[in-house]
Amino acid sequence: MAVILLAGGAGYIGSHTAVELLNVGHDVVIADNFCNSSPEAVKRVEQITGKNVKLYEVDITDREKLAVVFEENKIDAVIHFAGLKAVGESVQKPLVYYRNNIDTTLSLMENMNKYGVKNIIFSSSATVYGEENPVPYLETMKRGVCTNPYGWTKAMMEQILEDAAVADKELSVILLRYFNPIGAHESGLIGEDPRGIPNNLMPYVSQVAVGKRECLTIFGNDYPTADGTCTRDYIHVTDLAIGHVKAVDYILNNRCVEIFNLGTGTPYSVTEIVDTFEKVNNIKVNHVYGDRRPGDLAECYANADKAWQVLGWKTERSLADMCRDSWNWQKNNPNGYNN
Ligand code: NAD
Ligand code: WQD
Repeated sequence: MAVILLAGGAGYIGSHTAVELLNVGHDVVIADNFCNSSPEAVKRVEQITGKNVKLYEVDITDREKLAVVFEENKIDAVIHFAGLKAVGESVQKPLVYYRNNIDTTLSLMENMNKYGVKNIIFSSSATVYGEENPVPYLETMKRGVCTNPYGWTKAMMEQILEDAAVADKELSVILLRYFNPIGAHESGLIGEDPRGIPNNLMPYVSQVAVGKRECLTIFGNDYPTADGTCTRDYIHVTDLAIGHVKAVDYILNNRCVEIFNLGTGTPYSVTEIVDTFEKVNNIKVNHVYGDRRPGDLAECYANADKAWQVLGWKTERSLADMCRDSWNWQKNNPNGYNN
């Protein structure tokens, strides 16, 4: 079994991935500065798995401080989750986003180079397909024109990693393009804990249901879709986490430079999300229809065949599971990790 460094591993997707890696017997080291997470998430990972995680509080952009993590651990592979991810904020503060997201990547890569670590898996996003490509998105499509600085950081980091793998024939790179992760661990102990007003749909829905917010605004119902609201490829965060375990297995056994979509391949509309959440949880979600949100695409979903063919991974959890587990987390932790 291997030692896996999770950069940004205290966050939403990192904490769920830590659980699944520990469950199959890997050792997990987490490096995080908690700028958008809490050390409590790591304690909960240990509680769920009954295993220890080695935790470092460190800003990953700080190359010298990060070196200590590489010095003290014999790391076999890195999973790079560390980044800022709020699309709207990235439009307001582009330099902060470029500085943090690109620098975390460079600092990790430079340390990997120095300490002879040859495997990196990167948290990319469906956003790199841009506006031009038709759905369903395929890994062979060209990266598109991104609609915001956050998206551009992802596209640039993909390029940086690919260039590094051209120069170093021993370096393996896997770019995982996530679609829309929602849900939470079935224990209800870890989940998504956004700071302030949630940007994303599911945390907003859950916070309306629990009474923290008055009403959900559904952004637009005049899109060219079956019910007029946007469709997305929502994926249960545990399925996504298991996708990382499969990617780790693959990268440890193959010299590779590969891109994989991690999605279900099935789109659901905003209205379907709200209806399913209300039905499976037997709770009302107040909502109104409002204007379109600038930058939203009508549809976004994956062709998920490659991950199945190459990694032997596909999703197993339904939309009902996603809605049930999101609510289970929210109602047990109305204030997230600050209880
Ligand atoms: P998150 O904010 O919960 O996790 C990111 C973690 O990185 C946080 O714990 C944060 O504290 C840490 N971090 C950020 N900058 C850091 C730095 N300089 N040094 C150390 N730690 C730092 O986000 P998430 O939803 O878990 O997303 C993980 C990754 O997946 C991100 O790169 C994100 O862009 C990407 N992604 C997320 C989604 C999504 O919808 N959640 C979709 C596609 C891609
Ligand atoms: C989903 C749908 C909204 C909130 C974003 C990033 C993307 C990726 C995943 C990181 C859309 C609608 C939302 C609300 C609503 N992240 N909505 N009312 O925009 O598909 O993707 O997160 O890489 O890059 O852009 O996700 O959850 O914000 O929105 O009606 O209050 O819900 O219009 O149709 P999105 P989202």
